[in-house]
Amino acid sequence: MAQLDVMDKIVSLAKRRGFVFKSSEIYGGLNGCWDYGPLGVELLRNIKEEWWKAMTYRDNIEGLDASILMHPRVWEASGHVENFTDPMVDCKQCKSRFRLDILGEMIQEKKKKKILESLQLDGDFDKLLEDGEKSSLLLAEINCPQCGNKGTFTAARNFNLMFKTFVGPVEDGGSVVYLRPETAQGIFVNFLNVQSSARQKLPFGIAQIGKAFRNEINTKNFLFRTREFEQMEMQFFVKPVNDVEWYEYWKGERLAWYKSLGMNESKLQFHDHPKNKLAHYAKDATDIEYQFPFGWGEIEGIHNRTNFDLSRHEEFSGKSLKYFDEEAKEKYIPFIIETSAGASRSYMAFLIDAYHEEEVNGEQRTVLRFNPKLAPIKAAILPLVNKDGMPEFARNIETDLRKNFKVFFDDKGAVGRRYRRQDEAGTPFSITVDTQTLADGTVTVRERDSMEQVRVASTQLKNYLVEKIQL
Ligand code: GLY
Repeated sequence: MAQLDVMDKIVSLAKRRGFVFKSSEIYGGLNGCWDYGPLGVELLRNIKEEWWKAMTYRDNIEGLDASILMHPRVWEASGHVENFTDPMVDCKQCKSRFRLDILGEMIQEKKKKKILESLQLDGDFDKLLEDGEKSSLLLAEINCPQCGNKGTFTAARNFNLMFKTFVGPVEDGGSVVYLRPETAQGIFVNFLNVQSSARQKLPFGIAQIGKAFRNEINTKNFLFRTREFEQMEMQFFVKPVNDVEWYEYWKGERLAWYKSLGMNESKLQFHDHPKNKLAHYAKDATDIEYQFPFGWGEIEGIHNRTNFDLSRHEEFSGKSLKYFDEEAKEKYIPFIIETSAGASRSYMAFLIDAYHEEEVNGEQRTVLRFNPKLAPIKAAILPLVNKDGMPEFARNIETDLRKNFKVFFDDKGAVGRRYRRQDEAGTPFSITVDTQTLADGTVTVRERDSMEQVRVASTQLKNYLVEKIQL
């Protein structure tokens, strides 16, 4: 099966089964925005819950939930007003707008070679495209991917990716605020509030999950590049001399987290950022990448942000953000190691990683092999027939399990079909109530991946599932 077919199938399953819908679909959708349906919201909440537990159920990390709108000076201090830009070009004919690097990606290698030869230029096409003088030469030779006209591009201009809005009734320069492009800044400006209220000592971290917004010029690949997305970020404050050690520690911890939730190891890799491509705040950076059907893509960034952010906030706010190290009897601005995971991107990676098609007894089965902790529905309860007290017995099990788990009751159609529906939703356990249940109180529990069934006393079901799911 071609990789891109897989992507189409997953997008279609996501809609059909209620994982992800296009935002405002009845109006034709809004580019770069998506809605999570009934199964999707459970999966997303479970991913966030696992992250929250892994990151904050520790004695040296505290949680935070900062507001999305912040004082506009925050974004001057952070460098986002000045630096959070992408070079872009417009086609003068059809008015389509392209990010310069994405325009480069759209051009076939053969064509790139031809253009370089005709201009007698040497080097990497994509790098030359970002070089002012050479860029205009190259742009004059490129056909617009939208309308096909050649050489119709404006010179590259920087486009700030932050969404702007206004606080209060007057829409003027003095009331501009931004939708945060990262949750990190809410953590930095609260560094001393958290440290002193939670009586923390370095090294310690602050974790936050929340929405962030970026006015991406080109959105693409389903949930991969969207304008509204959710981040799971943790900022770890350390003594400057210990930055390298903690950077390495968090790289290891974060990669292990994806593996612990069953993500295929061979589809995960680190991609270190070359020094000349580092973000404006970073001394070192690596991405945890997942091999999506369209290629490797970042699902989390780990950055050594040095003392850049706190120093800048100190400068812009005029308030000291130094930490007093009682042991060393010295004051300094801590370095920060950041782990910045995309909840939406991880969601997409977990969904794709779980997707399997296989043949069972000559029939095709589609199964989402989620780790049970992430599965939207933990167990389905299926009375085998609708008589002899089986539905009532099954309803009692449902009521009982519902106190602890998200469960689903289904008494419609052949049991084989009901199993398939649960396989497609990723439900790890399906319980049937049959004639033997009425005789001895046991039920069958079918495990999604192996499809094996065991009989369990209905009174032991809850314990059985808790142990299997490891909640
Ligand atoms: N806080 C880092 C990022 O949003 O990529």
